Amino acid sequence: MPQIELCEISKSFTVRRKKAAAQVIRALYKVSFTIEEGALIGLIGPNGAGKSTLVKVMSGILTPEGGTCVISGRVPWKQRTAHVAEIGVVFGQRSQLWWDVPPNDSYDLLKDIYAIKTPAFNKRLSELTGAMDIGGLLNTPVRQLSLGQRMRCEIVAALLHSPKILFLDEPTIGLDAVSKLALRDFLKEENKKSGVTMILTTHDMTDVEALCSRVMVIGRGNILYNGNLETLKQTYSSEKPAEVIQIYQNIDEIIANMYREMKI
Ligand SMILES: Nc1ncnc2c1ncn2[C@@H]1O[C@H](COP(=O)(O)OP(=O)(O)O)[C@@H](O)[C@H]1O
Ligand SMILES: [Mg+2]
Repeated sequence: MPQIELCEISKSFTVRRKKAAAQVIRALYKVSFTIEEGALIGLIGPNGAGKSTLVKVMSGILTPEGGTCVISGRVPWKQRTAHVAEIGVVFGQRSQLWWDVPPNDSYDLLKDIYAIKTPAFNKRLSELTGAMDIGGLLNTPVRQLSLGQRMRCEIVAALLHSPKILFLDEPTIGLDAVSKLALRDFLKEENKKSGVTMILTTHDMTDVEALCSRVMVIGRGNILYNGNLETLKQTYSSEKPAEVIQIYQNIDEIIANMYREMKI
């Protein structure tokens, strides 16, 4: 049985602007896929495609108006408490750490929220701080950390309770090359060692290339492609096969070609 199973999930937002009529934005439309335990999936697509909405539905933050979603036998937005105990979520553009206090204080709070026993917590924290190299940052207020340092602390926060699934929404956004590589190595290792399923949204095709066994392309609320990266590159690259290798980094081109070919 797949760990994650979505069938025709739809989600719209109604936006009301002053004086103008209410407008309905279709963020997800009949999205279906399955993900096996331990997979490392790249979710790509242009701005506004529906990636974050999809992550929010799967995390139980948003309730879709149509379709079914079952993750580890549960419906995320209905069995939220049990669901969130098994998942970790990182939003690259938002922080789950308290801004004015050091990461250690937020970690203590998470320990209580997830009811992690002290020995298990200490062991996990020392494991993660070592792997993410944040030992020296634990007592610095979050607002004084650089983006890369903060992101490392965020990832540790999301993994403290040893979730079975980790959702990462643009975790490498704004990171320098060194931080990006370190983060990738860590995620790869954590996936291999602990078998955590990872679903990662990104605009960086080198992230996908380095990490993901499978890629899903989302555009205008639809899953446009679900398969391996090699086939995607070859199918949608406008270049000759010999030059394909140079092209895959340009996600915009691949997406644009895909839209053109699919007439979306
Ligand atoms: N809370 C919201 N209210 C209204 N519209 C939203 C909201 N969240 C997302 N949207 C709209 O839904 C679409 C998909 O957004 P999103 O999932 O954030 O895309 P992505 O993460 O791929 O950039 C966009 O058109 C966006 O403007
Ligand atoms: Mg987003």
